[in-house]
Amino acid sequence: MKSRMQPRHYLSEAVFERERDRIFRRLWLFAGLKTMVAEHNDFITREVAGVPVVIQNFRGELRAFENVCLHRSMRLQTAPAGRRPLVCGYHGWSYAVDGSASHIPLHDELYRFPAAERDAMRLRQFALRAVGNLLFVNLDPDPLPITDQFDQAFIDLMESSSSMYDTEVMTTTWHTRFNWKLGYENLRDGNHPRFVHPQSITKNVVFVPLMDEALHAEVTPELDPSLDRTARREILRRFSYGGAEGSFKNVVRYDWQQYVERWGETDAYFNWLAYPNLHIASSDGGFSFTIEHHVPVAPDRTDLEIYWMTARKRQPYSFSGTVLLSLMHGSKLVVGEDVQVMEEVQRGLHADAPTPRQGDYEGLNKRVERWYVDLIDGDHEI
Ligand code: FES
Ligand SMILES: [Fe+2]
Repeated sequence: MKSRMQPRHYLSEAVFERERDRIFRRLWLFAGLKTMVAEHNDFITREVAGVPVVIQNFRGELRAFENVCLHRSMRLQTAPAGRRPLVCGYHGWSYAVDGSASHIPLHDELYRFPAAERDAMRLRQFALRAVGNLLFVNLDPDPLPITDQFDQAFIDLMESSSSMYDTEVMTTTWHTRFNWKLGYENLRDGNHPRFVHPQSITKNVVFVPLMDEALHAEVTPELDPSLDRTARREILRRFSYGGAEGSFKNVVRYDWQQYVERWGETDAYFNWLAYPNLHIASSDGGFSFTIEHHVPVAPDRTDLEIYWMTARKRQPYSFSGTVLLSLMHGSKLVVGEDVQVMEEVQRGLHADAPTPRQGDYEGLNKRVERWYVDLIDGDHEI
């Protein structure tokens, strides 16, 4: 059957803006690791759906604020991560845990704000949730419950696996030239690895495409336009899932694995997909983890922010940095193969490009597309 997706869904600025409004400013989005903001004054900054956000530790309390000074709009924290009080570098205003401007240097000499005006000044605060070691923010002033986005079993799985991450983390950002949705359609496509990764991951991992009759049947009828919000959220919850997705031809053990703990005891390739833009994998049965956070930048540009870490160390060992480097090199190969394909798909898209065809194994993508088109082209809310 034909896909519901049209070329404009991957090319149009107007669609990209609507996605920001209806998806990225409504849903819980990955924002970093709790262990990166473990101490007083630790912070991380990011851009979420075009909004600068800072997550800052105030004596153990984590807060997410708009990272913009209330005086002259300077970004408060300018580094990607660090340890520094929430103080503006322009005229030195400092901010407290409630977002108030707790100290304005030379206030009485130069500014002289009336008390009521000064008391009313607050940084805009965003909802923040920790799921194990994973931090999620939500820009919506009235955010949906996180359990409306992810089912409890999936939250438990993210919580237990991420709590096993070691605190030594290597990160990088890969600037790519494709629409963020192509990456997730690819991640839900269990048939691509044998063709795209014959020289890398499928040398040792066997992926089995989903041929779930029930799943397929469920997505075939047209979406009922009268679906209410509860029903739409029920569909949304099923876009995120995790677990063993591939089996190993040979179980390979490395020396370094004796120095770390392990998440679970299953020799399998694990994959977690958290809609809309977080992908976590463990390609060695729980000894190490890769987080891929796909950040939409423009209709045809996506930043892949990637984190590598092993499971928690049992004891420090001298070559842990080398282990992370080798994990990084391994996934650079695999991710590079995917990126190359996604960029070619993007290059093939133009206003009059043929509508993609989908077979029975693509039930998951059909389900997401049906919901997406309804949301973006209709006038629904999540
Ligand atoms: S812009 Fe921040 S203190 Fe002036
Ligand atoms: Fe792939």
